[in-house]
Amino acid sequence: MKFFVDTADIDAIRELNDLNMVDGVTTNPSLIMKSGRDILEVIAEICDMVDGPVSGEVVATDYEGMIAEGNKLAEIAPNIAIKVPLTLDGLRACKTFSDDGRMVNVTLCFSANQALLAAKAGATFISPFIGRLDDINIDGLDLIADIRTIYDNYGFETQILAASIRTANHVSECAKIGADVMTAPPSVIKGLVNHPLTDKGLAAFVADAQKAGIKIV
Ligand code: E4P
Repeated sequence: MKFFVDTADIDAIRELNDLNMVDGVTTNPSLIMKSGRDILEVIAEICDMVDGPVSGEVVATDYEGMIAEGNKLAEIAPNIAIKVPLTLDGLRACKTFSDDGRMVNVTLCFSANQALLAAKAGATFISPFIGRLDDINIDGLDLIADIRTIYDNYGFETQILAASIRTANHVSECAKIGADVMTAPPSVIKGLVNHPLTDKGLAAFVADAQKAGIKIV
């Protein structure tokens, strides 16, 4: 499963990228707002740093506006994935960009039928939002499993980009289901390293090394 980092924070992306943990980046208008940066500048900086797909989201909600904004975003770098919302205008824009050979990430997916439409419109990525479904007491992981089944049934090549990931459990469950990609905030990705038995075991080894006076260098 590929790891995308869900942020527009350059320092956070760099830290994970240096560890080879970044296969791509996703942004959205809320994350751009949080960065306090100009969207075109910050996305250009991310594209310089990261080789994989970098999602930049349109803010227009009509087809013509999405096309104009998507083309502007695509000028930034070849690794831009134009992110469009899962609406009829968004799907129309997806088809146009995809026919032009652009990568497209269709976002705000909350149902299997929406994912089916995005695949038929030629989406490179479909972004089902797990955490926001969990927030309303619907199991977001069930949606990932349903989309996996449907895409496999018909051989759709659209990649399932599990989004709105909030917990380490979301990450491992998505990997078990077979999501192609997951995108998570830097804190969730860094948190995957944690296990209380690792901490406890290391403390015991350090204590014994001191008692034994073990020195290696
Ligand atoms: C995905 O592309 C979105 O940017 C993101 O995963 C949304 O996550 P949230 O529901 O935590 O805001």
